[in-house]
Parts: sequence; C-alpha cells; structure tokens
Amino acid sequence: MPSSIDSVALTALLVKKQENPYLGKGSFVCKHIYGDMYVMHDTLIIREIDFFKKGMSAMDTIEAIKTRRSVRKVSDREPSKELIEQILDAARRAPNHMNTEPWHFIVLTGEGRNKLGEVYGKVNQKNLENADQAALEAAYEKGLSSAKRAPVIIVVTMEPSDNPRAFEIEDIEATAIATQNLMLAAHALGLGSILRTGGAAYTKEAKEQFGVSEKGHIIGFVYLGYPAEGVVPKVPERQSVAEITEWVDA
Ligand SMILES: Cc1cc2nc3c(=O)[nH]c(=O)nc-3n(C[C@H](O)[C@H](O)[C@H](O)COP(=O)(O)O)c2cc1C
Repeated sequence: MPSSIDSVALTALLVKKQENPYLGKGSFVCKHIYGDMYVMHDTLIIREIDFFKKGMSAMDTIEAIKTRRSVRKVSDREPSKELIEQILDAARRAPNHMNTEPWHFIVLTGEGRNKLGEVYGKVNQKNLENADQAALEAAYEKGLSSAKRAPVIIVVTMEPSDNPRAFEIEDIEATAIATQNLMLAAHALGLGSILRTGGAAYTKEAKEQFGVSEKGHIIGFVYLGYPAEGVVPKVPERQSVAEITEWVDA
C-alpha cells in the first residue's frame, strides 16, 4: 500500500461510507490508481480526506452529470465554508458571452436563512384571500420554516451587463449554466442540492430583499446540504436521445 494512504485515512473513509446513504450502492464507486495498486473508494468523499488529495482525479464528468439528482431532504449538518467556496469556484467558471460574468451568489446560513424565509412569508400572505390575522401569521411562519429545509441556501442572482453589445438572455443563460456548475460541483463533493424557484424567485419582494435591480433577475435558490440518510431521490423519466434529437446531414 502506498505510504500516503495510511490506516487513519482508510478508517475515516469507512466511517464516512456508513454515514452517507448514497455510498455503497455502487453507482459512485470508482477507481483511483496509487502507484501500482488500485484503491476502490467513493468520489463523493475522497475530497474530504487529505490523504487522497495528491494524484486524485475528480468524479468523472459524465458520471457526475448522470448521477446528480435534485435532493430534497438533507441533514442539518452545515457544509464547511471551504466546501461552499470550492462549489462557488466551479460556478464562476461557466461560459459567459463577452465575459460579462453576470452572476452573484448570496450564501445564507443559520439565521441568515430568515432573509429568504421573510420573502416566502410575505409571498404566502399575498397569495391568501380574505385571510384573518391567524391565517396570515401561519402563512408567514410557514414561509420562515420553508427556508430552513437545508443548512445552506445560495441565492443566485444576475444583473444584465451594461455592455451595449451584450444580450440579456445570454446573461440569464450564463447564470443558469453557472448554477448547473454549482450543483454538479456540490454533487461531486458529496453534497445534495436542489434549485428552487417556487414562484417567489420572481417577485418584487425577493428582488428587494436581495438587492436585485429592476432589470436583474433571481435565477433561483439552491438548497445545499448532506443528503439525509435513507432517502433516495426519485429518478424522473427522460425522453430518449432519439426523441429529442434531429439529425441534419444534407
Ligand atoms: C428553474 C428551475 C426551478 C425549479 N424549481 C423547483 C421548485 O420550486 N421546487 C422543486 O421541488 N423543484 C424545483 N426544481 C427542480 C426540478 O423539480 C427537478 O430538477 C426535476 O424534477 C428533475 O429532477 P432532477 O433534478 O433530479 O433531474 C426546479 C428546477 C429548475 C431547473
């Protein structure tokens, strides 16, 4: 066994494997080569283990794309700031026409999540008709608790470039791509994520709360956390490649 992988690392690996419901099911298992021996392990956890950092390859891109799922149930355990920064670093590398970098990310944790909860609360209240005081309060409370469904929520916003040659739609597209980068990176690093808009993202209440201009947009709220134990996300049906593709060769 190579000296860089000692028994402490392997023990940590096994403990992690027990903690994470996604591991051990086979789909995330890959091989990394150390010297002349193969070590079987899960790409979801190797990044957290320093011993594996040298010579490690990231989760295969195709594998990451295929195995990412919207994860609706996560644990209360808060991912570290370092991990979140790694994820945002992946987000900011998205293609963007004329290098406008139209995106902005607001990371809500702890009580900071109330910033989104307040928006949900107000929007819930607005959607009620002829509600009495008790119903209004309940709607607001529900909004606050909706923003506690994950330990971290990243509000993804964009402001259109003031470059006269830039197109607004392209800035929206670029930020959506950054959002996918973000979610794929989260997945590769062992986190679950889901992009939520739920209608609230497009309200003036949300724009005001997160300092988005009239011309800007909220792309969505990415909920992030460690996948809850024993919950396996649904795999939605997809049309086949043949169904969505048209080949033109003449
Ligand atoms: C722009 C956008 C907004 C979304 N908003 C919500 C939402 O408000 N609530 C929700 O449960 N899922 C939301 N989703 C997640 C989709 O439901 C999810 O991507 C879809 O079911 C496919 O599942 P998958 O991500 O596991 O492939 C949203 C996805 C996108 C792209």
